[in-house]
Amino acid sequence: AYRYYVLDDPTIEDAVYDDWMRELEALEAAHPEHADPASPTRRIGGEPLTGFVEYTHREPMLSLANARGDEELADWDRRARATIAQEGLGDRPVAYVVEPKIDGLAISLTYEDGVFVRGTTRGNGVSGEDVSANLRTIRAIPLRLRAEAETPRLVEVRGEVYLPLDAFAALNEQRAAAGEPTFANPRNSAAGSIRQLDPALAAGRPLAIWCYALGAVEGLELASQQEIHAWLRAAGFPVNPGIRAVGSIAEAGKQARGWEERRNTLNYDIDGAVIKLDDLTLQRQMGSVGRAPRWAVAYKFAPTTATTTLNDIQISVGRTGALVPFAVLEPVVVGGVTVSMATLHNQDDVARKGLM
Ligand code: IVH
Repeated sequence: AYRYYVLDDPTIEDAVYDDWMRELEALEAAHPEHADPASPTRRIGGEPLTGFVEYTHREPMLSLANARGDEELADWDRRARATIAQEGLGDRPVAYVVEPKIDGLAISLTYEDGVFVRGTTRGNGVSGEDVSANLRTIRAIPLRLRAEAETPRLVEVRGEVYLPLDAFAALNEQRAAAGEPTFANPRNSAAGSIRQLDPALAAGRPLAIWCYALGAVEGLELASQQEIHAWLRAAGFPVNPGIRAVGSIAEAGKQARGWEERRNTLNYDIDGAVIKLDDLTLQRQMGSVGRAPRWAVAYKFAPTTATTTLNDIQISVGRTGALVPFAVLEPVVVGGVTVSMATLHNQDDVARKGLM
Protein backbone atom coordinates (compact mmCIF):
# COMPACT_ATOMS: atom_id res chain seq x y z
CA ALA A 1 0.00 0.00 0.00
CA TYR A 2 2.90 2.34 0.84
CA ARG A 3 4.57 1.72 -2.51
CA TYR A 4 1.28 2.20 -4.36
CA TYR A 5 -0.31 5.14 -2.54
CA VAL A 6 2.68 7.10 -1.25
CA LEU A 7 5.59 6.34 -3.57
CA ASP A 8 3.35 5.86 -6.63
CA ASP A 9 5.71 3.01 -7.57
CA PRO A 10 4.08 -0.38 -6.95
CA THR A 11 6.25 -3.48 -7.27
CA ILE A 12 3.45 -6.07 -7.40
CA GLU A 13 0.35 -6.53 -9.55
CA ASP A 14 -2.96 -5.21 -8.16
CA ALA A 15 -4.31 -8.77 -8.26
CA VAL A 16 -1.45 -10.00 -6.04
CA TYR A 17 -2.15 -7.16 -3.62
CA ASP A 18 -5.83 -8.16 -3.49
CA ASP A 19 -4.88 -11.79 -2.85
CA TRP A 20 -2.53 -10.84 -0.01
CA MET A 21 -5.20 -8.61 1.49
CA ARG A 22 -7.69 -11.51 1.50
CA GLU A 23 -5.05 -13.80 2.99
CA LEU A 24 -4.37 -11.25 5.74
CA GLU A 25 -8.09 -10.96 6.51
CA ALA A 26 -8.34 -14.74 6.82
CA LEU A 27 -5.26 -14.90 9.09
CA GLU A 28 -6.63 -12.15 11.32
CA ALA A 29 -10.00 -13.90 11.56
CA ALA A 30 -8.25 -17.16 12.53
CA HIS A 31 -5.91 -15.45 15.05
CA PRO A 32 -7.81 -12.67 16.83
CA GLU A 33 -5.01 -12.64 19.47
CA HIS A 34 -2.86 -10.81 16.86
CA ALA A 35 -5.46 -8.08 16.20
CA ASP A 36 -3.68 -4.87 15.24
CA PRO A 37 -5.44 -1.48 15.03
CA ALA A 38 -2.83 -0.41 12.45
CA SER A 39 -3.55 -3.35 10.14
CA PRO A 40 -4.41 -2.36 6.56
CA THR A 41 -7.64 -4.37 7.00
CA ARG A 42 -8.77 -1.77 9.56
CA ARG A 43 -9.15 1.15 7.16
CA ILE A 44 -12.93 1.03 6.85
CA GLY A 45 -14.57 0.72 10.22
CA GLY A 46 -18.17 -0.29 10.64
CA GLU A 47 -21.24 1.84 11.09
CA PRO A 48 -21.84 5.51 10.22
CA LEU A 49 -21.25 7.87 13.16
CA THR A 50 -24.04 9.87 14.78
CA GLY A 51 -21.94 13.00 15.16
CA PHE A 52 -18.40 14.35 15.42
CA VAL A 53 -16.62 14.95 18.71
CA GLU A 54 -14.82 18.28 19.15
CA TYR A 55 -11.07 18.04 19.66
CA THR A 56 -8.71 20.75 20.93
CA HIS A 57 -5.40 20.73 19.04
CA ARG A 58 -2.34 20.48 21.30
CA GLU A 59 -0.75 23.15 19.14
CA PRO A 60 -3.09 25.55 17.33
CA MET A 61 -3.34 25.28 13.54
CA LEU A 62 -2.22 28.66 12.28
CA SER A 63 -3.24 30.58 9.19
CA LEU A 64 -1.01 32.57 6.85
CA ALA A 65 -0.57 36.22 5.94
CA ASN A 66 -0.77 36.89 2.20
CA ALA A 67 1.65 38.56 -0.18
CA ARG A 68 0.52 39.46 -3.68
CA GLY A 69 3.40 40.09 -6.06
CA ASP A 70 7.11 40.69 -5.54
CA GLU A 71 6.77 43.98 -3.70
CA GLU A 72 4.60 42.56 -0.91
CA LEU A 73 6.91 39.56 -0.73
CA ALA A 74 9.93 41.86 -0.28
CA ASP A 75 7.99 43.75 2.43
CA TRP A 76 7.34 40.51 4.30
CA ASP A 77 11.03 39.60 4.03
CA ARG A 78 12.14 43.02 5.34
CA ARG A 79 9.80 42.68 8.34
CA ALA A 80 11.02 39.14 8.99
CA ARG A 81 14.66 40.25 8.87
CA ALA A 82 13.93 43.24 11.09
CA THR A 83 12.45 40.87 13.69
CA ILE A 84 15.47 38.61 13.42
CA ALA A 85 17.81 41.59 13.98
CA GLN A 86 15.69 42.91 16.88
CA GLU A 87 15.75 39.56 18.61
CA GLY A 88 19.53 39.73 18.39
CA LEU A 89 19.52 36.67 16.21
CA GLY A 90 22.20 38.27 14.13
CA ASP A 91 23.16 38.46 10.52
CA ARG A 92 23.46 34.84 9.60
CA PRO A 93 22.29 33.87 6.10
CA VAL A 94 18.60 33.03 5.96
CA ALA A 95 17.32 29.97 4.12
CA TYR A 96 13.74 29.70 2.86
CA VAL A 97 11.62 26.75 1.84
CA VAL A 98 9.05 27.16 -0.94
CA GLU A 99 6.05 24.83 -0.99
CA PRO A 100 2.86 24.68 -3.06
CA LYS A 101 -0.17 26.01 -1.19
CA ILE A 102 -2.59 23.13 -1.57
CA ASP A 103 -6.24 24.12 -1.96
CA GLY A 104 -7.79 21.31 0.05
CA LEU A 105 -8.95 20.57 3.58
CA ALA A 106 -6.44 21.22 6.39
CA ILE A 107 -6.18 18.31 8.81
CA SER A 108 -4.08 17.20 11.78
CA LEU A 109 -3.05 13.58 12.40
CA THR A 110 -1.97 12.48 15.89
CA TYR A 111 0.41 9.52 16.41
CA GLU A 112 1.27 8.10 19.81
CA ASP A 113 4.30 5.81 19.93
CA GLY A 114 4.09 5.61 16.15
CA VAL A 115 0.43 4.53 15.94
CA PHE A 116 -2.33 6.65 14.39
CA VAL A 117 -4.74 7.58 17.16
CA ARG A 118 -6.71 10.54 15.82
CA GLY A 119 -7.34 12.73 12.79
CA THR A 120 -9.12 16.06 13.01
CA THR A 121 -10.18 18.99 10.87
CA ARG A 122 -8.59 22.39 11.40
CA GLY A 123 -11.88 23.91 12.62
CA ASN A 124 -11.25 27.39 13.99
CA GLY A 125 -7.55 26.61 14.42
CA VAL A 126 -7.86 25.98 18.16
CA SER A 127 -10.27 23.07 17.98
CA GLY A 128 -11.70 20.99 15.15
CA GLU A 129 -13.77 17.86 14.62
CA ASP A 130 -12.55 14.30 15.15
CA VAL A 131 -12.88 12.78 11.68
CA SER A 132 -10.57 9.80 12.38
CA ALA A 133 -12.91 7.20 10.85
CA ASN A 134 -12.94 9.05 7.51
CA LEU A 135 -9.22 9.86 7.48
CA ARG A 136 -8.31 6.23 8.21
CA THR A 137 -9.79 5.35 4.81
CA ILE A 138 -7.13 7.42 3.00
CA ARG A 139 -4.59 4.78 2.00
CA ALA A 140 -1.70 7.26 1.86
CA ILE A 141 -2.10 8.09 5.57
CA PRO A 142 0.06 5.64 7.54
CA LEU A 143 -1.70 3.85 10.39
CA ARG A 144 1.77 3.14 11.82
CA LEU A 145 4.89 5.24 11.22
CA ARG A 146 7.64 3.53 9.26
CA ALA A 147 10.59 2.25 11.24
CA GLU A 148 12.99 4.20 8.95
CA ALA A 149 12.01 7.33 10.91
CA GLU A 150 12.77 8.03 14.55
CA THR A 151 9.49 7.40 16.43
CA PRO A 152 8.42 10.21 18.77
CA ARG A 153 6.27 9.61 21.85
CA LEU A 154 3.71 11.93 20.32
CA VAL A 155 3.45 13.88 17.11
CA GLU A 156 0.78 15.91 15.31
CA VAL A 157 1.27 15.81 11.53
CA ARG A 158 -0.30 18.63 9.54
CA GLY A 159 -1.37 18.40 5.94
CA GLU A 160 -3.97 19.01 3.33
CA VAL A 161 -6.45 16.40 2.07
CA TYR A 162 -7.44 16.83 -1.55
CA LEU A 163 -9.22 15.02 -4.37
CA PRO A 164 -6.97 14.65 -7.45
CA LEU A 165 -8.42 16.57 -10.40
CA ASP A 166 -8.91 13.49 -12.59
CA ALA A 167 -10.78 11.77 -9.74
CA PHE A 168 -12.88 14.91 -9.22
CA ALA A 169 -13.90 14.99 -12.89
CA ALA A 170 -14.80 11.28 -12.81
CA LEU A 171 -16.78 11.69 -9.57
CA ASN A 172 -18.83 14.58 -10.98
CA GLU A 173 -19.53 12.65 -14.18
CA GLN A 174 -20.76 9.70 -12.13
CA ARG A 175 -22.93 11.94 -9.97
CA ALA A 176 -24.43 13.74 -12.95
CA ALA A 177 -25.20 10.38 -14.60
CA ALA A 178 -26.89 9.19 -11.38
CA GLY A 179 -28.92 12.41 -11.18
CA GLU A 180 -27.07 13.52 -8.03
CA PRO A 181 -25.93 17.12 -7.46
CA THR A 182 -22.36 17.70 -8.63
CA PHE A 183 -19.60 19.31 -6.53
CA ALA A 184 -18.69 22.92 -7.34
CA ASN A 185 -14.92 22.28 -7.06
CA PRO A 186 -12.38 19.70 -5.85
CA ARG A 187 -11.95 21.44 -2.50
CA ASN A 188 -15.67 21.16 -1.70
CA SER A 189 -15.72 17.51 -2.71
CA ALA A 190 -12.73 16.72 -0.45
CA ALA A 191 -14.23 18.66 2.47
CA GLY A 192 -17.65 17.11 1.87
CA SER A 193 -16.13 13.61 1.88
CA ILE A 194 -14.34 14.16 5.20
CA ARG A 195 -16.99 16.17 7.01
CA GLN A 196 -19.78 13.59 6.69
CA LEU A 197 -20.58 10.72 9.00
CA ASP A 198 -20.27 7.57 6.85
CA PRO A 199 -16.70 6.18 6.56
CA ALA A 200 -17.87 3.84 3.76
CA LEU A 201 -18.66 6.92 1.66
CA ALA A 202 -15.23 8.44 2.36
CA ALA A 203 -13.60 5.10 1.50
CA GLY A 204 -15.25 5.24 -1.94
CA ARG A 205 -13.58 8.56 -2.78
CA PRO A 206 -9.94 8.38 -3.94
CA LEU A 207 -8.78 11.12 -1.53
CA ALA A 208 -5.10 11.97 -1.30
CA ILE A 209 -2.93 14.07 1.01
CA TRP A 210 0.20 16.23 1.06
CA CYS A 211 1.85 16.70 4.46
CA TYR A 212 3.96 19.78 5.20
CA ALA A 213 4.25 20.57 8.91
CA LEU A 214 4.20 19.33 12.50
CA GLY A 215 2.16 20.56 15.45
CA ALA A 216 2.95 19.25 18.93
CA VAL A 217 6.00 16.95 19.11
CA GLU A 218 7.34 15.00 22.08
CA GLY A 219 10.56 13.06 21.81
CA LEU A 220 11.89 14.24 18.47
CA GLU A 221 14.30 17.12 17.86
CA LEU A 222 14.28 18.67 14.39
CA ALA A 223 16.15 21.84 13.44
CA SER A 224 14.61 22.96 10.17
CA GLN A 225 11.67 22.80 7.83
CA GLN A 226 13.80 20.63 5.54
CA GLU A 227 14.36 18.19 8.39
CA ILE A 228 10.59 18.11 8.98
CA HIS A 229 10.04 17.15 5.35
CA ALA A 230 12.76 14.49 5.51
CA TRP A 231 11.26 13.04 8.69
CA LEU A 232 7.74 13.06 7.18
CA ARG A 233 9.02 11.22 4.09
CA ALA A 234 10.90 8.64 6.15
CA ALA A 235 7.86 8.10 8.39
CA GLY A 236 5.75 7.27 5.33
CA PHE A 237 3.83 10.47 4.57
CA PRO A 238 3.41 11.93 1.08
CA VAL A 239 5.50 15.12 0.84
CA ASN A 240 5.28 17.16 -2.35
CA PRO A 241 8.34 16.42 -4.52
CA GLY A 242 8.42 20.00 -5.89
CA ILE A 243 9.34 21.61 -2.54
CA ARG A 244 12.66 23.50 -2.72
CA ALA A 245 15.02 25.19 -0.27
CA VAL A 246 16.59 28.46 -1.48
CA GLY A 247 19.05 31.03 -0.11
CA SER A 248 17.40 34.35 -0.91
CA ILE A 249 13.96 35.94 -1.09
CA ALA A 250 14.52 36.69 -4.80
CA GLU A 251 15.09 32.99 -5.40
CA ALA A 252 12.00 32.18 -3.30
CA GLY A 253 9.91 34.53 -5.45
CA LYS A 254 11.21 32.81 -8.56
CA GLN A 255 10.19 29.40 -7.17
CA ALA A 256 6.73 30.76 -6.28
CA ARG A 257 6.22 32.12 -9.81
CA GLY A 258 7.38 28.75 -11.12
CA TRP A 259 4.48 27.13 -9.25
CA GLU A 260 2.08 29.68 -10.77
CA GLU A 261 3.29 28.80 -14.28
CA ARG A 262 3.03 25.06 -13.62
CA ARG A 263 -0.28 25.13 -11.76
CA ASN A 264 -2.33 24.03 -14.79
CA THR A 265 -0.15 20.96 -15.30
CA LEU A 266 -0.73 19.54 -11.78
CA ASN A 267 -3.32 16.93 -10.80
CA TYR A 268 -4.34 19.01 -7.73
CA ASP A 269 -5.43 22.60 -7.15
CA ILE A 270 -3.04 25.09 -5.60
CA ASP A 271 -3.93 28.70 -4.81
CA GLY A 272 -0.45 29.99 -4.09
CA ALA A 273 2.98 29.10 -2.80
CA VAL A 274 4.00 29.11 0.87
CA ILE A 275 7.39 30.59 1.73
CA LYS A 276 8.75 29.60 5.13
CA LEU A 277 11.94 30.39 6.99
CA ASP A 278 13.80 27.08 7.17
CA ASP A 279 15.31 27.44 10.66
CA LEU A 280 12.94 26.25 13.40
CA THR A 281 14.80 28.16 16.12
CA LEU A 282 14.15 31.36 14.17
CA GLN A 283 10.53 30.30 13.67
CA ARG A 284 10.02 29.81 17.41
CA GLN A 285 11.66 33.09 18.33
CA MET A 286 9.73 35.09 15.76
CA GLY A 287 6.31 33.94 16.92
CA SER A 288 2.97 35.09 15.49
CA VAL A 289 0.83 38.16 14.98
CA GLY A 290 -2.67 36.99 15.84
CA ARG A 291 -3.17 33.67 14.08
CA ALA A 292 -0.46 34.19 11.45
CA PRO A 293 3.20 33.29 12.06
CA ARG A 294 5.80 35.94 11.16
CA TRP A 295 8.05 33.24 9.71
CA ALA A 296 5.80 32.22 6.81
CA VAL A 297 3.82 33.92 4.09
CA ALA A 298 1.41 32.79 1.36
CA TYR A 299 2.40 34.07 -2.07
CA LYS A 300 -1.04 34.31 -3.66
CA PHE A 301 -1.63 33.70 -7.35
CA ALA A 302 -3.85 35.76 -9.61
CA PRO A 303 -7.45 34.68 -8.90
CA THR A 304 -9.09 32.04 -11.11
CA THR A 305 -12.60 33.37 -10.65
CA ALA A 306 -13.95 36.52 -12.27
CA THR A 307 -17.32 38.16 -12.86
CA THR A 308 -18.61 38.91 -16.34
CA THR A 309 -21.82 39.28 -18.37
CA LEU A 310 -23.73 36.43 -19.95
CA ASN A 311 -24.32 37.78 -23.47
CA ASP A 312 -26.10 34.81 -25.00
CA ILE A 313 -26.92 31.15 -24.62
CA GLN A 314 -26.34 29.12 -27.77
CA ILE A 315 -27.01 25.48 -28.47
CA SER A 316 -24.71 23.07 -30.25
CA VAL A 317 -25.74 19.67 -31.58
CA GLY A 318 -23.55 16.80 -30.38
CA ARG A 319 -22.53 13.73 -32.38
CA THR A 320 -25.44 11.75 -30.99
CA GLY A 321 -27.92 14.53 -31.66
CA ALA A 322 -27.93 15.74 -28.07
CA LEU A 323 -28.55 19.49 -27.74
CA VAL A 324 -25.86 21.11 -25.59
CA PRO A 325 -26.39 24.67 -24.38
CA PHE A 326 -23.31 26.85 -23.81
CA ALA A 327 -22.76 30.37 -22.53
CA VAL A 328 -21.39 33.20 -24.67
CA LEU A 329 -19.64 35.55 -22.27
CA GLU A 330 -18.30 39.06 -22.36
CA PRO A 331 -14.60 38.06 -22.64
CA VAL A 332 -12.85 38.20 -19.25
CA VAL A 333 -9.24 37.49 -18.27
CA VAL A 334 -9.01 34.92 -15.50
CA GLY A 335 -6.05 32.80 -14.40
CA GLY A 336 -4.00 34.20 -17.28
CA VAL A 337 -6.40 33.21 -20.08
CA THR A 338 -9.29 35.00 -21.80
CA VAL A 339 -12.58 33.19 -21.32
CA SER A 340 -15.44 33.89 -23.77
CA MET A 341 -17.47 30.65 -23.61
CA ALA A 342 -18.46 28.23 -20.88
CA THR A 343 -20.32 24.94 -20.66
CA LEU A 344 -23.76 25.00 -19.04
CA HIS A 345 -24.22 21.30 -18.40
CA ASN A 346 -24.61 21.66 -14.65
CA GLN A 347 -28.17 22.83 -13.95
CA ASP A 348 -27.49 23.10 -10.20
CA ASP A 349 -24.60 25.46 -10.86
CA VAL A 350 -26.66 27.50 -13.34
CA ALA A 351 -29.38 27.84 -10.71
CA ARG A 352 -26.87 28.64 -7.94
CA LYS A 353 -25.34 31.44 -9.99
CA GLY A 354 -28.76 32.76 -11.00
CA LEU A 355 -27.85 32.92 -14.70
CA MET A 356 -30.50 34.71 -16.75
S1 IVH B 1 1.82 25.96 6.69
C1 IVH B 1 2.30 28.40 9.15
N1 IVH B 1 2.06 24.94 4.29
O1 IVH B 1 -3.07 27.15 4.05
C2 IVH B 1 1.23 27.49 9.48
N2 IVH B 1 -0.12 25.62 5.01
O2 IVH B 1 -3.78 29.89 4.77
C3 IVH B 1 0.29 27.36 8.35
N3 IVH B 1 -1.89 25.20 3.37
O3 IVH B 1 -4.42 26.48 7.20
C4 IVH B 1 0.39 26.06 7.70
N4 IVH B 1 -0.61 24.30 1.81
O4 IVH B 1 -4.51 24.65 5.47
C5 IVH B 1 1.21 25.47 5.19
N5 IVH B 1 2.41 23.99 2.20
C6 IVH B 1 1.58 24.51 3.10
C7 IVH B 1 0.19 24.64 2.86
C8 IVH B 1 -0.62 25.21 3.84
C9 IVH B 1 -1.86 24.65 2.14
C10 IVH B 1 -3.10 25.75 4.01
C11 IVH B 1 -3.28 25.31 5.44
C12 IVH B 1 -3.42 26.58 6.24
C13 IVH B 1 -3.76 27.57 5.20
C14 IVH B 1 -3.29 28.94 5.63
